[in-house]
Order: sequence, then structure tokens, then C-alpha cells
Amino acid sequence: KVRAAVFASGTGSNFQAMMETENLACEITLLVCDKPGASVLEKAKRFNVPTIVFDPNMYSTKEEYELEVLHVLKEAKIDWIFLAGYMRIVGPTLLQAYDGKMMNIHPSLLPQFPGKDAIGQAFRAGVETTGVTVHYIDEGIDTGPIIDQVEIKVHKNDTKESLQKRIQEVEHQLYPAVINDVLSKGVKS
Ligand code: GAR
Repeated sequence: KVRAAVFASGTGSNFQAMMETENLACEITLLVCDKPGASVLEKAKRFNVPTIVFDPNMYSTKEEYELEVLHVLKEAKIDWIFLAGYMRIVGPTLLQAYDGKMMNIHPSLLPQFPGKDAIGQAFRAGVETTGVTVHYIDEGIDTGPIIDQVEIKVHKNDTKESLQKRIQEVEHQLYPAVINDVLSKGVKS
């Protein structure tokens, strides 16, 4: 079975959704976290997934911590990386090692609203439709080739919180489904 690592910095609801997907086409054998104390770490413990936690502030360059992470990924024989709320740009060290084998989920219809607080950005912009995107990683901020997108209507009485809740429910379905598609077909168009 394909061995995957999830990179996450926050709550880990997408990580949890993957772990709870019965027919996931890969085994998640490692969680990489750049925020000591993030609640995703408790979730990993609950699912018995080993973690590596690092604090980027302890390193002088991105290359330094990415080389360390890469070393662990190789030791753990990781084939694929899934970013799920990892709020950090991936550098050339990891990109070159996992070219075409790194995906991310983002809570907007990219290329609209890249970067931080995409849901807040969409809410404040007053768009009628936003959504969720799963895409491959490249060197930019949420710019890699899009694999799949789902549109979500913004309701008139939505708050940012109610919109976020609907977006995350879609994420929890979409990400495992895209992972299964990509891993079974090679590439999805
Ligand atoms: C998710 O909504 C994900 O799309 C977003 O962070 C959240 C993490 O939630 N990612 C980005 O904004 C990436 N630019 P989670 O920790 O509960 O999975």
C-alpha cells in the first residue's frame, strides 16, 4: 500500500477525515507538524500515527528544517505528502524530492483567494459562490495545478463561521475522494 504523510499545523479535521475514511487508498503513516502544541497532534496520538514536530523558528533557513523532515520522510518510506492546513510555503528541498506527489486542500475556488484566511477573504469580498480546491503543490502560494474543485454557495444569512462549517464539511468528503482518484488512476483530469 502507498505510504503517505500528512502535513498539518492546526486543528486536523482534514487529517481526521482521512483517518476515518474506510477505503482510503493509502496508509497515513506519519504526521508532520510545524506547530508544537497544535491540536492535530492529539488526533494523531488517538489514531496511533507517529508524528514529527518541528518549530521553524529554531532554524535559520527553510532548507535546514526541510532537510531534516526529508530525512524522516525517507526513513519512513513515504511516497506521497498531503498538506491539510499546513500554513507554510514548501521549499525546493521537499518539492524536488516529492515532485508531483504532493497535494494541498484550500478553502476557496482557486485562483481566487489564495493564502491565509481564504474563507474570510471570500466573505468580505461578498462573493455569491466560493468553494474548495485540491491541487498539486508548486513553489507558489496555492498556485499549483488544480485537480478538483467544488463550488459552495454563500447564503444571504451566512456568517463567516457558518460558511466555514459548510466549507469544511465539503473538504472532509472531497480530500479523501480526490486522494483515492489520484492514487487509483495515476492522474485525474
Ligand atoms: C482547512 O480549511 C484547509 O483548507 C485550510 O486550513 C484548514 C485546516 O483545517 N488550508 C489553507 O488555508 C491552506 N492555504 P484542519 O486543520 O481542521 O484540517
